[in-house]
Amino acid sequence: MYDYSILPEPSTSVFMACLKKPNHLSDDWLEKEQKQYSLEEHNYWDKLYKRQMDILPGLACDQFFEGLKLLDFDQGGVPDFNKTNEILDPLTGWSVVAVPELVPDHVFFYHLANKRFPAGNFIRSEEEEKYIELPDVFHDVFGHVPMLTDPNFARYMEEYGKAGWKALEYNRLKALSALYWYTVEFGLINTDKGMRIYGAGILSSAVESSYSLEAKSPNRIHLNVDRVMRTDYKHDDLQQSYFVIDDFDELFKLTQGRPFEQIYQKIGPAFQYAPPAVLEVDHVYHHGTQEYQQRGGKPSGATPV
Ligand SMILES: [Fe+2]
Repeated sequence: MYDYSILPEPSTSVFMACLKKPNHLSDDWLEKEQKQYSLEEHNYWDKLYKRQMDILPGLACDQFFEGLKLLDFDQGGVPDFNKTNEILDPLTGWSVVAVPELVPDHVFFYHLANKRFPAGNFIRSEEEEKYIELPDVFHDVFGHVPMLTDPNFARYMEEYGKAGWKALEYNRLKALSALYWYTVEFGLINTDKGMRIYGAGILSSAVESSYSLEAKSPNRIHLNVDRVMRTDYKHDDLQQSYFVIDDFDELFKLTQGRPFEQIYQKIGPAFQYAPPAVLEVDHVYHHGTQEYQQRGGKPSGATPV
């Protein structure tokens, strides 16, 4: 068994992104306090917030809107993490903590396993917005934190963090990252009202919100964990495949106590399936045309259809 209360120490042979820790931080990468945002930055949050709230009704799942309401995120400006945590902790035991930027995988797993969600301690600028979706405070807090008010989703996130220890041991971080990508970041869910968004990467993106559910280009396939862990993904453009669940309890049960080593022993450290692949075993809701990517995707300025 692993001790999740202690920061794991990955061996040097593990495939990991190399990130340089700023000198003022300890090994857990936590900032002492949340950044004091300028009036301009708070206003920019409000602009992004309004943009998404104009788009998301009818697209995002109910749990997301309930989370926003519970957390009082409509008060204007970047939320104060202390106030957010006063509400979030009694609901699911989670808290949001400030980190400078992306943190290394083992640090990320350590915080998730201990119900801490690391959020970037900065907000993107208006110029950056045109080019990339950065994991800044808007993506991390608007996209991720409302979902952490849902007990089943929150249990999945904790379970995901704990699964990190085994992925480090077996040197299969790519496989576990793909699961996060296709669920927590870009996941869709079936509801009584139709398919809806729960992934934070979509919830915080103006273009992808409607594209993920309505465009004809991408595949929409029911989530199969073993398959998704073998599937590559786009990190700099709209996804070519989205994976759909029936409910968050399903997501939790698919991961809780799962002997992931059985998958890790069968697969190599690289991916087997390309992002647009449709397999015989897939339960397909929509077989995408991939027209957007065939026209060159984002670099060529193709229309997301
Ligand atoms: Fe994210």
